[in-house]
Amino acid sequence: MTILDGKKTSKDIKNEIKVEVDKMKANGEKVPHLAAVIVGNDGASLTYVGSKVRACERVGFESTMVRLPNTTSEIELLDTIDELNNNDDIDGFIIQLPLPPQINTQKVLLAVDPDKDVDGFHPTNFGKMALDMSTFIPATPFGILELLDRYGVETKGKHTVVIGRSHIVGRPMSILMGRKGFPGNSTVTLTHSHTKNITQITSQADIIITALGVPGFLKAEMVKDDAVIIDVGITRVPNDSEKGYYITGDVDFENVSKKSSFITPVPGGVGPMTIAMLLKNTLIARERHRKS
Ligand code: GUN
Repeated sequence: MTILDGKKTSKDIKNEIKVEVDKMKANGEKVPHLAAVIVGNDGASLTYVGSKVRACERVGFESTMVRLPNTTSEIELLDTIDELNNNDDIDGFIIQLPLPPQINTQKVLLAVDPDKDVDGFHPTNFGKMALDMSTFIPATPFGILELLDRYGVETKGKHTVVIGRSHIVGRPMSILMGRKGFPGNSTVTLTHSHTKNITQITSQADIIITALGVPGFLKAEMVKDDAVIIDVGITRVPNDSEKGYYITGDVDFENVSKKSSFITPVPGGVGPMTIAMLLKNTLIARERHRKS
């Protein structure tokens, strides 16, 4: 069994990005600039955005965090997006999800300039991804592809089962694993809350990508020997530690890891890759911006 080490791999990617940024600086060029908009005070979202901003600093990017109150109206958020779209200094930006209920998420994501949409959530970019056109691939699926690539995990002709059809992970992952190329060329089954007999499906899978947010959902008896297991679940479970919680994934790691050929841990698997790939998308946005 091999651990797909997202912590180490993400460090490697960030080091590679830093080399590119150092070259830009040495040439007197403007470095990439990422902005992150966060609406409200959700603890997990604040932690994620804080990590994204710190990661920018470490690789030498500029970063801007835009914090808006929980009471922000849709119009106010659309105004902020308009400013970011028109600010030439900013190469890419993200709107951290989820948004408060008074704001229509789809309307907001549609307002982001697709050329600055480093999350890859705009329908134009999502459509391009589905059509194999060059675009921004959402950071978490992009991170999973990068892990499979760097560890040389074979995907061609394999049966990939994706658990969960979220717009951020499950749905794009199901498209990407079936694309022509590597990683890809898989036969994909996308499962969700209405899927019947899920164990029958997962136990035939060569690769399982689970993005449900249900701790310990995937058990050893649901997995065949030598399967590849990608755990995208990140759930905060309350306990009496100093933090008040611990982080766990969708997979019963202790038992499933004994049967698997490759597996991502939680924490330290897919999570750190997401941030590294957001930086990569921002670097790509900067390069495109410079050429345009
Ligand atoms: N919320 C959970 N994951 C993500 C992500 O990748 N990007 C944004 N913007 N919000 C999220």
